[in-house]
Amino acid sequence: MHFEWPARRGQTGRMAEEGVPVIRYEELPEGPAVVLLDQRRLPGEETEVVCTDVPALVDAIQSLAVRGAPVLGITGGYGVALAAALRVDVADAAEQLANARPTAVNLAYGARRVEAAYREAERAGEGAEAAAVRALAQARALHREDAEGSARLAEYGSALLEELVPGGGLRILTHCNTGRLVSGGEGTALAVVKAVHRAGALRRLWVGETRPLLQGARLTAYEAAKAGMAYSVLTDGAAGSLFASGEVDAVLVGADRIAADGSVANKVGTYPLAVLARHHRVPFVAVAPVTTIDPATASGCDIEVEQRAAHEVTVGPWGGSGLSGAEGKEGRALVPVGAQAYNPAFDVTPSELVTAVVTDEGVASPVTAERLTELCSASRRQASRSADGMMRS
Ligand code: MRU
Repeated sequence: MHFEWPARRGQTGRMAEEGVPVIRYEELPEGPAVVLLDQRRLPGEETEVVCTDVPALVDAIQSLAVRGAPVLGITGGYGVALAAALRVDVADAAEQLANARPTAVNLAYGARRVEAAYREAERAGEGAEAAAVRALAQARALHREDAEGSARLAEYGSALLEELVPGGGLRILTHCNTGRLVSGGEGTALAVVKAVHRAGALRRLWVGETRPLLQGARLTAYEAAKAGMAYSVLTDGAAGSLFASGEVDAVLVGADRIAADGSVANKVGTYPLAVLARHHRVPFVAVAPVTTIDPATASGCDIEVEQRAAHEVTVGPWGGSGLSGAEGKEGRALVPVGAQAYNPAFDVTPSELVTAVVTDEGVASPVTAERLTELCSASRRQASRSADGMMRS
Protein backbone atom coordinates (compact mmCIF):
# COMPACT_ATOMS: atom_id res chain seq x y z
CA MET A 1 0.00 0.00 0.00
CA HIS A 2 1.18 3.56 -0.55
CA PHE A 3 -0.02 7.07 0.22
CA GLU A 4 1.28 10.56 -0.41
CA TRP A 5 2.01 13.59 1.70
CA PRO A 6 3.57 16.99 1.06
CA ALA A 7 7.30 16.63 1.53
CA ARG A 8 8.90 17.67 4.76
CA ARG A 9 11.64 20.06 3.77
CA GLY A 10 14.62 18.59 5.57
CA GLN A 11 14.67 18.23 9.33
CA THR A 12 14.60 21.96 9.95
CA GLY A 13 11.87 22.92 7.53
CA ARG A 14 14.20 25.03 5.39
CA MET A 15 14.51 24.51 1.65
CA ALA A 16 18.25 23.91 1.38
CA GLU A 17 20.05 22.86 -1.79
CA GLU A 18 20.00 19.29 -0.51
CA GLY A 19 16.25 19.65 0.15
CA VAL A 20 13.87 16.79 0.86
CA PRO A 21 15.56 13.41 1.43
CA VAL A 22 15.40 11.30 -1.73
CA ILE A 23 14.81 8.09 0.22
CA ARG A 24 14.47 7.17 3.88
CA TYR A 25 13.37 4.19 5.93
CA GLU A 26 11.01 5.21 8.71
CA GLU A 27 9.20 3.63 11.63
CA LEU A 28 5.84 5.43 11.30
CA PRO A 29 2.90 5.04 13.70
CA GLU A 30 1.32 2.91 10.89
CA GLY A 31 4.40 0.67 10.83
CA PRO A 32 7.68 0.55 8.87
CA ALA A 33 7.81 2.35 5.53
CA VAL A 34 10.14 3.41 2.75
CA VAL A 35 9.50 7.09 2.06
CA LEU A 36 10.49 8.43 -1.37
CA LEU A 37 10.67 11.91 -2.84
CA ASP A 38 8.24 11.41 -5.75
CA GLN A 39 10.36 12.17 -8.82
CA ARG A 40 7.33 11.89 -11.14
CA ARG A 41 6.08 15.20 -9.77
CA LEU A 42 9.30 17.19 -9.96
CA PRO A 43 10.04 19.97 -10.55
CA GLY A 44 6.50 21.25 -9.95
CA GLU A 45 5.82 19.58 -6.60
CA GLU A 46 7.98 18.16 -3.85
CA THR A 47 5.78 15.34 -2.62
CA GLU A 48 6.75 12.19 -0.80
CA VAL A 49 5.28 8.79 -1.50
CA VAL A 50 5.11 6.47 1.47
CA CYS A 51 5.46 2.77 0.62
CA THR A 52 4.32 0.46 3.39
CA ASP A 53 4.73 -2.81 1.51
CA VAL A 54 6.79 -4.38 -1.26
CA PRO A 55 4.18 -4.17 -4.09
CA ALA A 56 3.92 -0.39 -3.50
CA LEU A 57 7.69 -0.11 -3.73
CA VAL A 58 7.80 -2.19 -6.92
CA ASP A 59 5.17 0.11 -8.40
CA ALA A 60 7.17 3.19 -7.34
CA ILE A 61 10.25 1.74 -9.08
CA GLN A 62 8.41 0.83 -12.29
CA SER A 63 6.59 4.16 -12.57
CA LEU A 64 9.84 6.07 -11.86
CA ALA A 65 8.83 7.69 -8.58
CA VAL A 66 12.35 6.56 -7.71
CA ARG A 67 14.89 6.08 -10.50
CA GLY A 68 18.57 6.12 -11.38
CA ALA A 69 20.94 3.23 -10.80
CA PRO A 70 22.53 3.87 -7.38
CA VAL A 71 19.33 4.88 -5.61
CA LEU A 72 17.56 1.88 -7.15
CA GLY A 73 20.14 -0.25 -5.32
CA ILE A 74 19.37 1.54 -2.07
CA THR A 75 15.62 1.13 -2.72
CA GLY A 76 16.05 -2.59 -3.39
CA GLY A 77 17.96 -2.90 -0.12
CA TYR A 78 15.40 -1.01 1.97
CA GLY A 79 12.61 -2.97 0.25
CA VAL A 80 14.07 -6.27 1.44
CA ALA A 81 14.55 -4.80 4.93
CA LEU A 82 10.89 -3.72 4.84
CA ALA A 83 9.80 -7.25 3.88
CA ALA A 84 11.85 -8.65 6.77
CA ALA A 85 10.31 -6.17 9.22
CA LEU A 86 6.81 -7.05 7.98
CA ARG A 87 7.60 -10.79 8.27
CA VAL A 88 6.63 -11.43 4.66
CA ASP A 89 8.56 -13.85 2.44
CA VAL A 90 11.99 -12.23 2.13
CA ALA A 91 13.15 -14.39 -0.82
CA ASP A 92 10.02 -13.54 -2.78
CA ALA A 93 10.39 -9.82 -1.95
CA ALA A 94 14.03 -9.84 -3.06
CA GLU A 95 13.04 -11.55 -6.31
CA GLN A 96 10.27 -9.04 -7.05
CA LEU A 97 12.45 -6.05 -6.26
CA ALA A 98 15.51 -7.33 -8.13
CA ASN A 99 13.41 -7.85 -11.26
CA ALA A 100 11.28 -4.70 -11.08
CA ARG A 101 13.43 -3.13 -13.82
CA PRO A 102 16.00 -5.11 -15.81
CA THR A 103 18.83 -2.79 -16.84
CA ALA A 104 20.25 -1.06 -13.75
CA VAL A 105 22.36 -3.78 -12.13
CA ASN A 106 22.43 -1.88 -8.83
CA LEU A 107 18.78 -2.74 -8.17
CA ALA A 108 19.42 -6.48 -8.00
CA TYR A 109 22.72 -5.85 -6.22
CA GLY A 110 21.00 -3.92 -3.40
CA ALA A 111 18.13 -6.37 -3.00
CA ARG A 112 20.40 -9.45 -3.04
CA ARG A 113 22.96 -7.94 -0.69
CA VAL A 114 20.36 -7.24 1.99
CA GLU A 115 18.71 -10.63 1.42
CA ALA A 116 22.13 -12.25 1.98
CA ALA A 117 22.57 -10.37 5.28
CA TYR A 118 19.13 -11.59 6.40
CA ARG A 119 19.97 -15.21 5.46
CA GLU A 120 23.35 -15.01 7.18
CA ALA A 121 21.66 -13.91 10.41
CA GLU A 122 19.12 -16.75 10.10
CA ARG A 123 21.91 -19.27 9.52
CA ALA A 124 23.66 -17.95 12.62
CA GLY A 125 20.52 -18.95 14.57
CA GLU A 126 19.19 -15.42 15.08
CA GLY A 127 15.39 -15.12 15.18
CA ALA A 128 13.29 -13.29 12.58
CA GLU A 129 13.34 -10.06 14.57
CA ALA A 130 17.12 -9.99 14.91
CA ALA A 131 17.51 -10.98 11.24
CA ALA A 132 15.27 -8.06 10.26
CA VAL A 133 17.48 -5.74 12.29
CA ARG A 134 20.53 -7.12 10.44
CA ALA A 135 18.78 -6.57 7.11
CA LEU A 136 18.01 -2.95 7.92
CA ALA A 137 21.56 -2.34 9.13
CA GLN A 138 22.84 -3.72 5.82
CA ALA A 139 20.49 -1.47 3.84
CA ARG A 140 21.62 1.54 5.85
CA ALA A 141 25.26 0.57 5.24
CA LEU A 142 24.58 0.40 1.51
CA HIS A 143 22.98 3.86 1.66
CA ARG A 144 25.95 5.29 3.57
CA GLU A 145 28.52 3.66 1.28
CA ASP A 146 26.77 5.13 -1.73
CA ALA A 147 27.05 8.61 -0.22
CA GLU A 148 30.75 8.08 0.49
CA GLY A 149 31.30 6.63 -2.98
CA SER A 150 29.59 9.62 -4.54
CA ALA A 151 32.08 11.97 -2.84
CA ARG A 152 34.97 9.90 -4.26
CA LEU A 153 33.40 9.99 -7.74
CA ALA A 154 33.33 13.79 -7.52
CA GLU A 155 36.96 13.88 -6.46
CA TYR A 156 38.28 11.46 -9.11
CA GLY A 157 36.06 12.90 -11.83
CA SER A 158 36.99 16.53 -11.28
CA ALA A 159 40.71 15.65 -11.15
CA LEU A 160 40.34 13.75 -14.43
CA LEU A 161 38.61 16.70 -16.09
CA GLU A 162 41.43 19.00 -15.02
CA GLU A 163 43.81 16.66 -16.85
CA LEU A 164 41.65 16.18 -19.94
CA VAL A 165 40.54 19.80 -20.33
CA PRO A 166 42.92 22.01 -18.35
CA GLY A 167 42.28 25.68 -17.68
CA GLY A 168 38.71 25.72 -16.27
CA GLY A 169 35.81 27.53 -17.90
CA LEU A 170 34.28 24.18 -18.77
CA ARG A 171 31.17 23.70 -20.83
CA ILE A 172 29.90 20.25 -19.90
CA LEU A 173 27.09 18.40 -21.65
CA THR A 174 25.13 15.85 -19.64
CA HIS A 175 22.15 13.60 -20.29
CA CYS A 176 19.35 12.25 -18.10
CA ASN A 177 19.66 12.87 -14.36
CA THR A 178 22.64 11.71 -12.36
CA GLY A 179 22.57 13.94 -9.29
CA ARG A 180 21.34 13.86 -5.71
CA LEU A 181 18.09 12.31 -6.92
CA VAL A 182 19.86 9.08 -7.90
CA SER A 183 22.09 8.69 -4.90
CA GLY A 184 22.72 8.58 -1.19
CA GLY A 185 25.08 11.51 -1.84
CA GLU A 186 25.39 14.04 -4.66
CA GLY A 187 25.12 11.49 -7.44
CA THR A 188 27.49 10.30 -10.14
CA ALA A 189 28.16 12.48 -13.21
CA LEU A 190 26.33 15.44 -11.68
CA ALA A 191 28.37 15.07 -8.48
CA VAL A 192 31.44 15.70 -10.65
CA VAL A 193 29.77 18.71 -12.28
CA LYS A 194 28.89 20.09 -8.83
CA ALA A 195 32.54 19.74 -7.73
CA VAL A 196 33.70 21.55 -10.88
CA HIS A 197 31.10 24.26 -10.20
CA ARG A 198 32.21 24.66 -6.57
CA ALA A 199 35.79 25.03 -7.77
CA GLY A 200 34.64 27.91 -10.00
CA ALA A 201 35.59 25.99 -13.14
CA LEU A 202 32.15 25.48 -14.71
CA ARG A 203 31.20 27.95 -17.43
CA ARG A 204 27.95 26.22 -18.45
CA LEU A 205 26.10 22.95 -17.95
CA TRP A 206 24.31 21.83 -21.08
CA VAL A 207 21.34 19.70 -20.06
CA GLY A 208 19.90 17.35 -22.68
CA GLU A 209 16.12 17.24 -22.11
CA THR A 210 16.07 13.40 -22.33
CA ARG A 211 12.95 12.38 -24.22
CA PRO A 212 10.51 10.89 -23.53
CA LEU A 213 10.32 11.34 -19.75
CA LEU A 214 12.48 14.47 -19.56
CA GLN A 215 14.77 13.45 -16.71
CA GLY A 216 17.20 16.13 -17.95
CA ALA A 217 14.72 18.98 -18.32
CA ARG A 218 12.70 18.15 -15.19
CA LEU A 219 15.29 16.78 -12.80
CA THR A 220 18.81 17.85 -13.79
CA ALA A 221 17.66 21.41 -14.43
CA TYR A 222 15.95 21.34 -10.98
CA GLU A 223 19.23 20.28 -9.36
CA ALA A 224 21.36 22.69 -11.41
CA ALA A 225 19.09 25.59 -10.46
CA LYS A 226 19.29 24.70 -6.76
CA ALA A 227 23.08 24.54 -7.01
CA GLY A 228 23.20 27.96 -8.67
CA MET A 229 24.87 26.73 -11.86
CA ALA A 230 24.71 28.47 -15.22
CA TYR A 231 22.80 25.92 -17.27
CA SER A 232 20.76 25.63 -20.46
CA VAL A 233 18.35 22.89 -21.45
CA LEU A 234 18.46 21.70 -25.05
CA THR A 235 16.31 19.31 -27.02
CA ASP A 236 18.08 15.99 -27.57
CA GLY A 237 18.19 16.67 -31.31
CA ALA A 238 20.06 19.98 -30.78
CA ALA A 239 23.19 18.26 -29.45
CA GLY A 240 24.72 17.90 -32.94
CA SER A 241 24.65 21.59 -33.71
CA LEU A 242 25.95 22.38 -30.22
CA PHE A 243 29.03 20.21 -30.85
CA ALA A 244 29.42 21.62 -34.35
CA SER A 245 29.58 25.15 -32.98
CA GLY A 246 32.40 24.13 -30.61
CA GLU A 247 30.37 24.71 -27.45
CA VAL A 248 31.10 21.42 -25.65
CA ASP A 249 34.36 20.71 -23.78
CA ALA A 250 33.36 17.37 -22.23
CA VAL A 251 30.40 14.99 -22.01
CA LEU A 252 29.65 13.48 -18.60
CA VAL A 253 27.01 10.78 -18.17
CA GLY A 254 26.09 8.10 -15.65
CA ALA A 255 25.57 4.38 -16.28
CA ASP A 256 22.99 1.75 -15.46
CA ARG A 257 25.20 -1.23 -16.21
CA ILE A 258 28.77 -1.51 -17.42
CA ALA A 259 29.54 -4.88 -19.00
CA ALA A 260 32.84 -6.65 -18.39
CA ASP A 261 34.11 -5.41 -21.77
CA GLY A 262 33.44 -1.78 -20.79
CA SER A 263 30.24 -1.26 -22.80
CA VAL A 264 28.11 1.33 -21.02
CA ALA A 265 24.31 1.05 -20.84
CA ASN A 266 22.76 4.39 -19.96
CA LYS A 267 19.64 6.43 -20.71
CA VAL A 268 18.62 6.25 -24.36
CA GLY A 269 20.29 9.08 -26.24
CA THR A 270 23.68 8.53 -24.61
CA TYR A 271 25.16 6.55 -27.52
CA PRO A 272 24.49 9.30 -30.10
CA LEU A 273 26.28 11.75 -27.78
CA ALA A 274 29.29 9.42 -27.63
CA VAL A 275 29.39 9.23 -31.45
CA LEU A 276 29.18 13.03 -31.67
CA ALA A 277 31.86 13.45 -29.02
CA ARG A 278 34.23 11.16 -30.93
CA HIS A 279 33.56 12.97 -34.21
CA HIS A 280 34.28 16.34 -32.57
CA ARG A 281 37.25 15.06 -30.49
CA VAL A 282 35.57 15.84 -27.17
CA PRO A 283 36.15 13.59 -24.13
CA PHE A 284 33.20 11.34 -23.29
CA VAL A 285 33.26 10.19 -19.66
CA ALA A 286 30.95 7.76 -17.84
CA VAL A 287 30.77 8.15 -14.05
CA ALA A 288 29.43 5.28 -11.93
CA PRO A 289 30.15 3.43 -8.70
CA VAL A 290 31.92 0.09 -9.02
CA THR A 291 28.61 -1.58 -8.14
CA THR A 292 27.39 -0.60 -11.64
CA ILE A 293 30.10 -2.75 -13.26
CA ASP A 294 28.69 -6.20 -13.91
CA PRO A 295 31.43 -8.80 -14.47
CA ALA A 296 28.69 -11.40 -15.12
CA THR A 297 27.58 -9.54 -18.26
CA ALA A 298 30.32 -10.23 -20.78
CA SER A 299 29.55 -7.62 -23.42
CA GLY A 300 27.20 -4.85 -24.45
CA CYS A 301 25.03 -7.26 -26.49
CA ASP A 302 24.31 -9.20 -23.30
CA ILE A 303 22.79 -6.21 -21.50
CA GLU A 304 19.03 -6.41 -21.27
CA VAL A 305 17.60 -3.06 -22.33
CA GLU A 306 14.25 -2.22 -20.76
CA GLN A 307 11.50 -1.55 -23.30
CA ARG A 308 8.89 0.80 -21.93
CA ALA A 309 5.27 1.49 -22.81
CA ALA A 310 4.42 3.23 -26.08
CA HIS A 311 2.29 5.90 -24.40
CA GLU A 312 5.43 7.48 -22.93
CA VAL A 313 6.31 8.47 -26.51
CA THR A 314 2.89 8.93 -28.04
CA VAL A 315 1.18 10.97 -25.33
CA GLY A 316 2.30 14.34 -24.00
CA PRO A 317 3.34 16.90 -23.24
CA TRP A 318 5.35 16.10 -20.14
CA GLY A 319 6.90 19.50 -19.62
CA GLY A 320 5.58 21.33 -16.60
CA SER A 321 2.67 18.92 -16.25
CA GLY A 322 4.23 17.13 -13.32
CA LEU A 323 3.20 13.91 -15.01
CA SER A 324 5.34 10.99 -15.97
CA GLY A 325 5.18 7.43 -17.24
CA ALA A 326 2.20 5.59 -15.86
CA GLU A 327 0.10 8.69 -15.23
CA GLY A 328 0.77 10.22 -18.64
CA LYS A 329 -1.73 7.93 -20.36
CA GLU A 330 -4.35 10.59 -19.70
CA GLY A 331 -2.45 13.29 -21.65
CA ARG A 332 -2.87 14.69 -25.17
CA ALA A 333 -2.07 12.37 -28.12
CA LEU A 334 1.01 13.49 -30.08
CA VAL A 335 0.60 10.99 -32.92
CA PRO A 336 -2.18 9.71 -35.18
CA VAL A 337 -4.48 7.11 -33.68
CA GLY A 338 -2.93 3.64 -33.93
CA ALA A 339 0.69 4.85 -34.29
CA GLN A 340 3.23 2.44 -32.84
CA ALA A 341 6.29 3.51 -30.87
CA TYR A 342 9.84 2.32 -30.31
CA ASN A 343 10.69 3.12 -26.69
CA PRO A 344 13.88 1.56 -25.31
CA ALA A 345 14.75 3.18 -21.99
CA PHE A 346 18.50 2.76 -22.51
CA ASP A 347 21.15 2.35 -25.17
CA VAL A 348 24.61 0.82 -25.09
CA THR A 349 27.83 2.69 -25.89
CA PRO A 350 30.82 0.53 -26.84
CA SER A 351 33.97 1.02 -24.77
CA GLU A 352 35.99 2.36 -27.71
CA LEU A 353 33.84 5.50 -27.66
CA VAL A 354 34.33 6.02 -23.91
CA THR A 355 37.35 8.13 -22.97
CA ALA A 356 37.17 7.09 -19.33
CA VAL A 357 35.01 5.37 -16.75
CA VAL A 358 35.29 7.14 -13.40
CA THR A 359 34.44 4.88 -10.45
CA ASP A 360 34.58 5.33 -6.70
CA GLU A 361 37.70 3.13 -6.70
CA GLY A 362 39.56 5.05 -9.40
CA VAL A 363 39.55 5.73 -13.12
CA ALA A 364 39.67 3.34 -16.10
CA SER A 365 41.22 5.13 -19.07
CA PRO A 366 41.56 3.51 -21.50
CA VAL A 367 38.49 1.47 -20.67
CA THR A 368 39.71 -2.13 -20.70
CA ALA A 369 38.29 -5.33 -19.23
CA GLU A 370 41.51 -5.73 -17.19
CA ARG A 371 41.27 -2.31 -15.58
CA LEU A 372 37.57 -2.77 -14.76
CA THR A 373 38.35 -6.13 -13.11
CA GLU A 374 41.07 -4.44 -11.06
CA LEU A 375 38.63 -1.75 -9.86
CA CYS A 376 36.03 -4.38 -8.93
CA SER A 377 38.59 -6.37 -6.93
CA ALA A 378 39.64 -3.27 -4.99
CA SER A 379 35.99 -2.70 -4.11
CA ARG A 380 35.41 -6.33 -3.05
CA ARG A 381 38.38 -6.15 -0.66
CA GLN A 382 36.90 -3.01 0.88
CA ALA A 383 33.40 -4.62 1.13
CA SER A 384 34.69 -7.70 2.89
CA ARG A 385 36.50 -5.51 5.45
CA SER A 386 33.27 -3.65 6.28
CA ALA A 387 31.19 -6.89 6.33
CA ASP A 388 33.61 -8.34 8.89
CA GLY A 389 33.12 -5.20 10.96
CA MET A 390 29.31 -5.49 10.78
CA MET A 391 29.20 -9.17 11.78
CA ARG A 392 31.40 -8.44 14.79
CA SER A 393 29.16 -5.55 15.92
O1 MRU B 1 15.12 5.44 -16.49
P1 MRU B 1 15.95 6.10 -15.43
O2 MRU B 1 15.54 7.51 -15.16
O3 MRU B 1 16.05 5.27 -14.19
O4 MRU B 1 17.40 6.16 -16.07
C1 MRU B 1 18.45 6.68 -15.31
C2 MRU B 1 19.70 6.81 -16.09
O5 MRU B 1 19.80 6.38 -17.21
C3 MRU B 1 20.87 7.41 -15.39
O6 MRU B 1 21.69 8.08 -16.31
C4 MRU B 1 21.67 6.25 -14.78
O7 MRU B 1 20.89 5.50 -13.88
C5 MRU B 1 22.86 6.69 -14.13
S1 MRU B 1 22.47 7.63 -12.69
C6 MRU B 1 23.72 7.44 -11.82
